[in-house]
Amino acid sequence: MRKSSKTSAHTHSAVNLRNAPHDDAPAAPVCTMVIFGAAGDLTKRLVVPALYNLVNSGRLADGFRLVGVDHSDQTTQSWRDGLGEMMQDFVSDTSGEFHAASINQAHWKWLTERMSYLQGDFQDPATFHALSDHLDEVAGQRKGPDNRLFYLAVADRFFETVVNGLSAADLVRQDGDRWRRVVIEKPFGHDLASAKVLNTAVLKVLREDQVFRMDHFLGKETVQNIMALRFANGLFEPIWNRDHIDQIQITAAETVGVEARGKFYERTGALRDMVPNHMFQLLSMVAMEPPTSFDADAVRNRKSDVIGAIEPMDPAQALASSVRAQYAAGTVAGHKVRAYRNEPDVDAHSMTETYAALRLGIENWRWAGVPFYLRTGKCMSTRQTEIAIRFHQAPYALFRGTDVAKMHPNWMILRIQPDEGIALEFAAKRPGPTVKLSTVDMDFSYSDFFAQKPSTGYETLLYDCMMGDATLFQRADTVENGWRAVDPVLEAWADAPQKTIPQYAAGSDGPKAADDLLQASGHAWRALPLS
Ligand code: BG6
Repeated sequence: MRKSSKTSAHTHSAVNLRNAPHDDAPAAPVCTMVIFGAAGDLTKRLVVPALYNLVNSGRLADGFRLVGVDHSDQTTQSWRDGLGEMMQDFVSDTSGEFHAASINQAHWKWLTERMSYLQGDFQDPATFHALSDHLDEVAGQRKGPDNRLFYLAVADRFFETVVNGLSAADLVRQDGDRWRRVVIEKPFGHDLASAKVLNTAVLKVLREDQVFRMDHFLGKETVQNIMALRFANGLFEPIWNRDHIDQIQITAAETVGVEARGKFYERTGALRDMVPNHMFQLLSMVAMEPPTSFDADAVRNRKSDVIGAIEPMDPAQALASSVRAQYAAGTVAGHKVRAYRNEPDVDAHSMTETYAALRLGIENWRWAGVPFYLRTGKCMSTRQTEIAIRFHQAPYALFRGTDVAKMHPNWMILRIQPDEGIALEFAAKRPGPTVKLSTVDMDFSYSDFFAQKPSTGYETLLYDCMMGDATLFQRADTVENGWRAVDPVLEAWADAPQKTIPQYAAGSDGPKAADDLLQASGHAWRALPLS
């Protein structure tokens, strides 16, 4: 159990970062949301539960409508029923992203009454013409402006097809005050070249302010809170630089394996799946310069700058600064786990990494010389996403001649998930006649201060799209800067094919090579918490 601090939480309206669904936030403007991939997993697990949560908090206007498009043979009624069953299943399953004690039937009914389903092939222009007719019909039956939000919950190979289909059917032209917006999920490209091609294709038919590139990490409250921690407190920013910070470690350790996503994961791997997107979001929040406002572009400019300042690496540096590994059979949380190569849809000789670690440098005045260590892996000992900041060690002179043989530097830990909070480790004198030090911590846990509402993390993001607030979405240049930073590693890995890939036992803290990566600079990973 974590100790809770004794201070109290004061709500301060000035700390309202953006237009996110705070208790006093208004309902979003009337719109019709169209989900491509309406029969898919993302729709069921995250998008529809998030919409239901938005109904619960009064964030959807009466005129809201939801249209599902997919190739699967369903009717409006069967689509609604299937989603309803799924929502009920979530109530008994505490392990999913969405968990509620019960479903409010009146609110669910409110949502289902506004849903309709359209069967169609994304590659067939007729689908978009049928959609156009359907949307006109929907708009004619309700009051309010005919705004439209197109959500691409489809495999990335369909992104361009759907965007072009929308454009060809004249569905994304904005006139007057009626907006047309398109949400694109990750993966946005699989390297710099493909991300550029995709951006060019998308921006040929849409304006940048119509495109909402989604990274669901930005929907996590704790990620958003990094800005509040840094910029709403006078305490930290003056020491948030190379003069005081010695290294930063960003960890996204998962206990899950690839589950049913073998096909996708085989061509993706841990680096592409997690680093240029989610982990760079964490990196940019912690390392960016202060923006001058919460205006979407003010924030995104600073984020793009810092990702753009990641030190370029030549192939030798890229190899020396990276580690790839794959999980072997093992035990995670008491359950036996098969090796990655034995997972469904995975090649028995697969060389795809399920773990990646990197040492990166940021070449600017704030961070030059400070290593940023990133690690992410599947089937690890514990689920932990955190940013650990190590400050320089205090000088030793005072303690010469005491029992203090070694000084410990201060760490600040931003726990993103689970057990969200912030801890600061510092040295304290142990009670007694001689000078001895112990490391103790000040620990703030969100749950001690703020009531947790059931949330999938998508609520804020969906609401923001409807409000037209792009602060928490990726701009074309940020995405490209992310790929630009990891491309040297991807290329070096591709050019230095290994006969074998280092293995780590499922349920462990990762491969030894990752420890060696830090040891080379006299550093070590922070131990992952015991699960
Ligand atoms: C997804 C990745 O984008 O993020 C998954 O494709 C990963 O492989 C997931 O498991 C992690 O997100 P979260 O919110 O569970 O930490």
